[in-house]
Amino acid sequence: MFDTMTLTKAGGALCGSLLILLLGNWAAEGLYHTGPSGHVAEGELAQAYAIEVAEAGGGEEAAEEGPAFAEVFAAADPAAGERVFGKCKACHKIDGTNGVGPHLDGVVGRDIASVEGFAYSDALSGLEGTWTPETMEAFLANPKGYAPGTKMTFAGLPKVADRANVIAYLAAAGG
Ligand code: HEC
Repeated sequence: MFDTMTLTKAGGALCGSLLILLLGNWAAEGLYHTGPSGHVAEGELAQAYAIEVAEAGGGEEAAEEGPAFAEVFAAADPAAGERVFGKCKACHKIDGTNGVGPHLDGVVGRDIASVEGFAYSDALSGLEGTWTPETMEAFLANPKGYAPGTKMTFAGLPKVADRANVIAYLAAAGG
């Protein structure tokens, strides 16, 4: 009698936990399916499609980044660039004298690392070429990326408009 009771209890407990497991599974599955299955699936599909379209748009934008600088530069504002130059002033002058950095007189169109008497880093003196608006905008976007090892400890100008404006200012100021 007693044994049967215990057995029954144990069996009941087992059944109970099985039932709970089963219900748990069921609930989990229910949760799992509420999103992607049934009529919601259509919404999901539509969303996936929309994301693809958005990505395609993003790709195009990235590809247009080159011409974007040219466009922004064509409409650049030297007066706004003078304000941006405030971030450079601690190190650069436009009066022919060097500071922490070389003077920037006529820097647009000047050979890279060509100021007499300025001790450039190997990173910069190792670069060939001229500071055109394009090379300078690449340098100013990410100085350490453009010239790894440069001693210009400046994080860069993340905004394309700031780069275009300061280059326009330097082109006008340095003659
Ligand atoms: C913390 C000081 C510092 C700041 C701020 C700074 N620079 Fe420089 N810059 C330097 C130094 C130092 C060099 C020389 C780098 C080398 O030799 O690696 C340099 C080099 C340059 C060069 C190359 C010049 C050449 O003769 O080849 C340009 C162009 C330039 N900086 C522009 C700017 C502009 C524009 C800004 C502001 C947006 C700026 N820098 C902000 C320190 C600075």
